[in-house]
Amino acid sequence: MSFPQRRLRRLRRTPALRRLVAETHLRVDDLVAPLFVREGIDEPRPIPSLPGVVQHSLASLRAEVRELVGLGVPAVILFGVPAHKDARGSGASDPDGIVQVALRTLRDDVGDDVVLMADLCLDEYTDHGHCGLLAPDGSVDNDATIERYAAAGIAQAEAGADIVAPSGMMDGQVRAIRDGLDGDGFEHVAILAYAAKYASALYGPFRDAVDVSITGGGDRKSYQQDWHNAREALEEIRLDLREGADLVMVKPALAYLDVLARARAEVDVPIAAYHVSGEYAMVRAAAERGWIDGDAVAMEHLTAIKRAGADLILTYFAREIAEVLAP
Ligand code: PBG
Repeated sequence: MSFPQRRLRRLRRTPALRRLVAETHLRVDDLVAPLFVREGIDEPRPIPSLPGVVQHSLASLRAEVRELVGLGVPAVILFGVPAHKDARGSGASDPDGIVQVALRTLRDDVGDDVVLMADLCLDEYTDHGHCGLLAPDGSVDNDATIERYAAAGIAQAEAGADIVAPSGMMDGQVRAIRDGLDGDGFEHVAILAYAAKYASALYGPFRDAVDVSITGGGDRKSYQQDWHNAREALEEIRLDLREGADLVMVKPALAYLDVLARARAEVDVPIAAYHVSGEYAMVRAAAERGWIDGDAVAMEHLTAIKRAGADLILTYFAREIAEVLAP
């Protein structure tokens, strides 16, 4: 006679049984590696709050991307650290800006073997650190900013980006970028919209990585989403799709698995999740102290993000995970 309360353990008895019935598998094909490239350096620079991640020189970036391609990682997303910042964030749209130079070089190196994505924003390039242009009263000017985004998108497309990824959370940014791309003959370039991007405290290490601090101790709460809200995220996603987004993102990931699951139920386009700098840094810091098994936690976290509904995951663990999963 079998007792119902013992039923569920039968299929957990051996590793092979567990593998056989596993519902979710993290694959190398799910991974997008975020990479930082800094203008005017010859050697990569470590980022103390992101152990294992560096600001690349152009040369070290090329080597890293070749290795990622060798490991089968299908995509990278580039972030630039310019030598000079100004009020308009000129480096974001300059054909000789660091990300544009990097895109051209990588396209020559690896052809179509990897999907080249470019984060599309102004914050890495502005001297005030905001994601947009400032109005005279110090607020971020939505409509002036999205014109700059369209110019940056065209510069990235011209340099060879397959996908541009607007992360500034301005209203109407996707439509402005889509119109700009189409008007310049870049109909084939896709848009990954950071659609549901929250004003999160988990971006701290990233701001070290790109040398961004917001003037006067400001924050991004007037454009990024309030993390008290989930329904609003679905509205953001619907609007971005209507404006022409090809893929949408939820960011950060782990504290927003509810949002990810709701988005998955609602839309059928590919959904990306960004396991952000603070999420990575917390795992690394606790692992360094010997308080958790970092590799095991990373795998658990990233698989959970996939289980919740993500098709692709931007993560600083991409390389390590690819090394573990590589055939
Ligand atoms: C903005 C941008 C940010 C991140 C990705 N794109 C920073 C911000 O919104 O302040 C954060 C990524 C991370 O924390 O890993 N260009």
